[in-house]
Amino acid sequence: MKPHSVELPLGRSHAQPKTPKIFLLIIFGTLALLTIIPVFYPLLGYPLYLLKHSSSKPSSTYDSQEPDASISISESETCDIFTGEWVPNPDAPYYTNTTCRGIHEHQNCMKYGRPDTEFMKWKWKPDGCELPVFNPAQFLEIVRGKSLAFVGDSVGRNQMESLICLLSRVEYPVDVSYTPDDNFKRWKYTTYNFTIAYFWTTYLVKSKQREVNGPTQTGLFNLYLDEFDEKWTTQIEEFDYLIISGGHWFSRSLVFYENHQIVGCHFCLVENVTDLTKFYGYRKAFRTAFRAINSLENFKGITFLRTFAPSHFENGWWNHGGNCVRTKPFTSNETALDGDNFELYMIQMEEFRTAEREGRKKGKRYRLMDITQAALLRPDGHPSKYGHWPHENMTLFSDCLHWCMPGPIDTWNDFLLQMLKKEGAKSHQ
Ligand SMILES: *[C@@H]1O[C@H](CO)[C@@H](O)[C@H](O)[C@H]1NC(C)=O
Ligand SMILES: *[C@@H]1O[C@H](CO)[C@@H](O)[C@H](O)[C@H]1NC(C)=O
Ligand SMILES: *[C@@H]1O[C@H](CO)[C@@H](O)[C@H](O)[C@H]1NC(C)=O
Ligand SMILES: *[C@@H]1O[C@H](CO)[C@@H](O)[C@H](O)[C@H]1NC(C)=O
Ligand SMILES: *[C@@H]1O[C@H](CO)[C@@H](O)[C@H](O)[C@H]1NC(C)=O
Repeated sequence: MKPHSVELPLGRSHAQPKTPKIFLLIIFGTLALLTIIPVFYPLLGYPLYLLKHSSSKPSSTYDSQEPDASISISESETCDIFTGEWVPNPDAPYYTNTTCRGIHEHQNCMKYGRPDTEFMKWKWKPDGCELPVFNPAQFLEIVRGKSLAFVGDSVGRNQMESLICLLSRVEYPVDVSYTPDDNFKRWKYTTYNFTIAYFWTTYLVKSKQREVNGPTQTGLFNLYLDEFDEKWTTQIEEFDYLIISGGHWFSRSLVFYENHQIVGCHFCLVENVTDLTKFYGYRKAFRTAFRAINSLENFKGITFLRTFAPSHFENGWWNHGGNCVRTKPFTSNETALDGDNFELYMIQMEEFRTAEREGRKKGKRYRLMDITQAALLRPDGHPSKYGHWPHENMTLFSDCLHWCMPGPIDTWNDFLLQMLKKEGAKSHQ
């Protein structure tokens, strides 16, 4: 068993001041004030759900009956698949812990006695169109002869394992890893000559643990914000698709370096070092990661940014008794993206747009896999205390951050397939 600390992309133990984003959320709803918004965040291109419940929904021309593996797309071009609601789906789930052996221990919630099963029985319904549930044969046909890399932390791995389980109805891959290190896995679908790889990187940039404990007892990390994490940046050039993500590790205590010098930190409590907040580190880390991708001459693939997935600790922080005990999704009017989640999301969007613009000059392609709202609405999808046996002494006693499998994370791969279909449709034009 690996040390559980590897599983734990968290660390902040003190209460966090909420940034006054309520103000912004209010003006988002007021079209008359739209011209003010670019001062804060350029709104164009942001998903509809930030514009809180616009009344005119795009119409649907989508035919959801797609039993075969043919590659076609008839979805309305105007539909934003990332804005919607969770609706009941009695047919789910599409795998179990017995049909798929790829479920990570700590996300195998049924094994550890989770009593409710309703959390597996939902699907994402975009406003104005349908998002088809994952079709493994179709997916494998599309990615035949191609390769896909997941770059990120354990939540990124969570999505990769969901993909492997969804595909397991058709084929289970062979482990072709080039190192025994579980943080750098490679899987091959021999029938389809399709490769999935996983590159572990908690901060996307070069980083090093500076102290084991630090102010929050969860480690103090050096982040070299302008230096590539070569463990992945030197490996991805050959890939056709890249899914990059990150977030929760930035809540730990961090010391920021730029140009080999300390420029500030996040809750490091080191004398004379300015607290620049985690948002500073988050922005710079994504900027550098995208710069790395844009600098790869031979990288011809598509980069998907998988946006931030909020955690759902309630009644306390993760290490102060916080837990997630809900058994149903939220509807979109029951919650809103706010506080840190909103800030992290916006930073990603801004850095993504900049990278996309820069990348276009070099023939690089970027796509946004905007799972944030779908994830926000699923407080019921986490392992909670069913990620381990009750007697096991885990750092993350209640896990409200990773996702049970099967569970809502499977939908992220519904999005992936839909986006790949769209790419196919584009390249046919
Ligand atoms: C699968 O889940 C069941 C409970 O639904 C549990 O009894 C079993 O041990 C689990 N099997 C594996 C292989 O995880
Ligand atoms: C398998 O796919 C790779 C690209 O990922 C390609 O270079 C190779 O030629 C393919 N092999 C076969 C047998 O098609
Ligand atoms: C912090 O700054 C003060 C004032 O400039 C200085 O007197 C002190 O020595 C500094 N401490 C460290 C550890 O550098
Ligand atoms: C929230 O939305 C649900 C369905 O989308 C609806 O049934 C409910 O009445 C709404 N509640 C409020 C307070 O608007
Ligand atoms: C759990 O582990 C922590 C640190 O490893 C230790 O301080 C604590 O006493 C342990 N608790 C139990 C109940 O074993």
